[in-house]
Amino acid sequence: MSGLEARLPLLPLFPPLRASLAVTREPSSTHGRETTSRGFCIVAYDLLAGLRSYFPVPHPLTAMRIDIANAFGGEPALDRTTLEELDERVAEAHYRIREGMEHDEFGYTALNLPETTDTAEIRDAVEPFSDSETVLTVGIGGSALGAATIADALESEVDAYFLDNVDPEHTARLLDSLDLSTTTMNVVSNSGTTAETLANFLVVREAMEEDGVDWTERTFVTTGPEGNLRELAEQHELPALPVPEGVPGRFAALSTVGLACAAIQGHDIDAILAGAAAERDRLADSLFDSPAYAYGAVTYALAAEGALTNAFMPYAESLETFAEWFAQLWAESLGKDGQGQTPARALGATDQHSQLQLYRAGPRDKLVTLLRPTERTDRGIPETDLAGLSYLGGSSLGTLLDAEFEATEASLAAANCPNVRVEVDRLDEHGVGELLYGMEAACVLYGELAGVETFTQPAVEWGKRAARGLLGGGDFDEADAVGEKRRLVID
Ligand code: PA5
Repeated sequence: MSGLEARLPLLPLFPPLRASLAVTREPSSTHGRETTSRGFCIVAYDLLAGLRSYFPVPHPLTAMRIDIANAFGGEPALDRTTLEELDERVAEAHYRIREGMEHDEFGYTALNLPETTDTAEIRDAVEPFSDSETVLTVGIGGSALGAATIADALESEVDAYFLDNVDPEHTARLLDSLDLSTTTMNVVSNSGTTAETLANFLVVREAMEEDGVDWTERTFVTTGPEGNLRELAEQHELPALPVPEGVPGRFAALSTVGLACAAIQGHDIDAILAGAAAERDRLADSLFDSPAYAYGAVTYALAAEGALTNAFMPYAESLETFAEWFAQLWAESLGKDGQGQTPARALGATDQHSQLQLYRAGPRDKLVTLLRPTERTDRGIPETDLAGLSYLGGSSLGTLLDAEFEATEASLAAANCPNVRVEVDRLDEHGVGELLYGMEAACVLYGELAGVETFTQPAVEWGKRAARGLLGGGDFDEADAVGEKRRLVID
């Protein structure tokens, strides 16, 4: 290996290049334009990318980028001075978060998962299921969405399905379509008591028995130290992974909860955690030095100005579930004490032809988050004789999607609708880890700034108790509220 080749992997650490990967301190006052220094850095990065194509060296370490230039000067209005003033509070919040991480405090400890998750333990636990053609995760909320996000973002020969609802028709259709003899059931519940999860488990178990499949050979569980699921695992000696202590479900994607399914699918779970670690390493006491915090601070500041909806719009089919995961994270963590920001799920370019009308021309109460990988496996568009389509022929679907992304961004900016661009290089394991951790850290920062209890979910627990009470699963006051329902039926 030549000296240059040997040094190339280190180049991402070179300061000008790092600057291109981090949010700029000098966002342009004009929507959609980059500053000269940022432009220089991007040129430097492109140059490096060009060099890399000639040398057989591994990809550089990548990291999530946030472009906040279009967050300013729109409606709701946010200006740079306000954000700069907020930076002092970001520093305080950062020290609070760091303290929480250092002492493994409830919730904060989730941000330590890149180093505390034991990937060898996960691989060992799922090893008996290496013959799986399908993995069926039975869980709900945070016990399903992290695994589903990873499964949908990454290609695998092992199919992944999720039973995270108790719709009988859907469940029946899904079970009828699966060969249960080659399916592994991955039952996930931190509490081990969630009605939907346990009901679905019983249904899948029965379906396995009916198909002559020994369910005890094809089931493993991920659960907390107590609860029905733990008892069941012990009674039937099922392989069982622990849910890490102090990690709420929606922050558990980077633990056993999200990674066991990924391991069965053959994904490199160490690379997912390496992507997460890259984001953890960039948490800093200024939002201008930390993309994750930049996103958390800008969304918080815009919400304070009236942007009470965050339309989250990835430009990749494989990130549609990530938008769903984000919606849970944002809503369940931040929707408290009359505060919060409603996450709306959208998909580019499809929803340009539906929801975009509202985002651009509706009430001035929102921001739009535009997310994309900058590299993807592309597919050419065939040449055509049709003169009117000559601009498409010979181009590619990826080029078209990128043009749609940039056009939407510019169209929102032109209509003074605040928007934020989030990018990763690739949707590989590392990139998915960057996104999961980056948005979790953004959410924790937002929660600190808003002064809410980010890691609790009293409203969700209320509903769970009411449902269990209704079904006779215990004596819960919440169930009484159902009988008190008011009615004004029009039929
Ligand atoms: O984020 C959360 O804590 C919730 O969404 C839970 O993950 C969800 O309610 C499922 O709970 P459990 O894992 O106890 O079954």
